[in-house]
Amino acid sequence: MKTKEIAKGIYSVGVADWNVRNFHGYLTQKGTSYNAYLIIDEKITLIDTVKVQFTQELIDRISQVVSLEKIDYVVSNHVEMDHSGAMPELMKRLPNATVLTSQSGEKEHKLHFKPDWKFQVVKTGDSVSLGIRTLQFLMTPMVHWPDNMVTYCPEEKILFSNDAFGQHLASSHSFDDEPLDVIMEEAKKYYANIIMPYSSQVVGVMDAVKQLDIQMIAPSHGLIWKNNIPAILENYTKWAHGQVDKKAVIVYDSMYGSTEKIAYAIRNAFEAKDYAYKFFDLKHNHVSDIITDCLDAEYICVGSPTLNKNIMPTVAAFLTYLQGLITKTKKGILFGSYGWAQQNTKVMERYFEESGIELIDKYNVNFIPDDAALLAITAGVSSKI
Ligand code: FEO
Repeated sequence: MKTKEIAKGIYSVGVADWNVRNFHGYLTQKGTSYNAYLIIDEKITLIDTVKVQFTQELIDRISQVVSLEKIDYVVSNHVEMDHSGAMPELMKRLPNATVLTSQSGEKEHKLHFKPDWKFQVVKTGDSVSLGIRTLQFLMTPMVHWPDNMVTYCPEEKILFSNDAFGQHLASSHSFDDEPLDVIMEEAKKYYANIIMPYSSQVVGVMDAVKQLDIQMIAPSHGLIWKNNIPAILENYTKWAHGQVDKKAVIVYDSMYGSTEKIAYAIRNAFEAKDYAYKFFDLKHNHVSDIITDCLDAEYICVGSPTLNKNIMPTVAAFLTYLQGLITKTKKGILFGSYGWAQQNTKVMERYFEESGIELIDKYNVNFIPDDAALLAITAGVSSKI
């Protein structure tokens, strides 16, 4: 496949992973890419690498532009192996290269690969001259790991942002030329599933990024932002601050339909009050898709019947996933049905407490809700929202 020049002397040498469908538990229905960038200057520089199984493809793409031994710097913005897996094999062929990375990056490389590579640790405010161009570094710890940093080239006005602003999206395009709603939905899903727990750190990153003159944001997953930079910056700011829409997410699993009936009764209350809502039966929906809608929802409503001495495993899995990601306070409603033990709401309340979700109401019906009970639930929710 042809190596693409994204700006004069700057090449996209990463790879598309068209068929990956599960990225550590996150469903990637549109595949992904591991982007790497090659800058031809007096000092030839590679920014990030790819997953180990794509090492040869990366080498082939670089070789279309320059001999590997001519590379002077490898910038490692992030050690997670989707960006560093190729490093051990690649570095054997780069006898003259110095790895530019954060302090945590050096430590993590050593823990991963036990390398004998030459490192140069950089920190916020440091810059390295490549000749005509300069690289400036901004530490972005916890977006996504402690080692994360972004690299800015002021002469080209390009921000090499690694995970930040990424999307799990394989494409034959380099730039944001796919329909914006598709790209933005994948960027939102990426934020919800990867970045959301570190939103407070993102607030600081956004303050710094907004000071930069940017014409291109080149992430390490998905498409390069060129035509829609204000839109992605605006959305990152919204998501980082936990701003919500007038929206509810209703999530449940049901054994014989009672919990589902209550879910619809709750839905009716939100619908009557003109809320946007999403309605997810966990038998048919994946947690990584549902969490995307939780990101900008005001209310999260979760339902399960009592099953044995606990709740439905699907609901427990969702609540576990939610607990690991949610940081901003949301309002919540719990619901379900039971036969002889109200374990369901007790268990779910513990998850809500640990997630910091404010429980505004709960409904637990013995066996099967009749029409009067369902109408009472709709009225009860309506009175609280
Ligand atoms: Fe794309 Fe945190 O790695």
